[in-house]
Amino acid sequence: MGNGTNRDPNDDIARKTHGQLVDPLEFIARDHRAERVVCDHLDRLAAGDKLRRADIESALRFLRDDLPHHLDDEELDLFPVLRRRCEADDEIDKAIARLTSDHAHAAVDTPTVIAVLDGQLRKKRPLSDTECHSLSAYAAHARRHLTLENAVVLPLARLRLSKKDQTQMAARMAQRRGLGSNQE
Ligand SMILES: [Fe+2]
Ligand SMILES: [Fe+2]
Repeated sequence: MGNGTNRDPNDDIARKTHGQLVDPLEFIARDHRAERVVCDHLDRLAAGDKLRRADIESALRFLRDDLPHHLDDEELDLFPVLRRRCEADDEIDKAIARLTSDHAHAAVDTPTVIAVLDGQLRKKRPLSDTECHSLSAYAAHARRHLTLENAVVLPLARLRLSKKDQTQMAARMAQRRGLGSNQE
């Protein structure tokens, strides 16, 4: 606390997602919490609030470094195993189709958000109306996406994935990040 002026608790949230990979579903849930923090930052900027440099840097780190891995975790690991394990009544295909289409939109829109944040880091100037709209639209889409994943997809995954599924998922996610996992 003593020298806490340039310590950012949000930064810690983002860093923790890279700390350990034992429980892959909890790891994904942590990325979702970090993404919500980023959405809050984007809304504040769009509303004309000034953000601390550390908040902008932390949001940039998430969007540049963590989000691409997170999207791969879901598209290459979580969604395929869910498709195999879910029952017809779960209607998981519909949810996955919607989420995958959201990811494609995010891939197009994220560079714009990164450019706006980067611009704020280099030169603080008022955002244009178009930039404000881009940030708040991005945050609104991301929140809707997170709600579907947190309320439907992760609870189903906890229900349907076996221990072995989760261990294999953890190993692949760890490998993606050059980390160790609890799998031999
Ligand atoms: Fe997600
Ligand atoms: Fe997603």
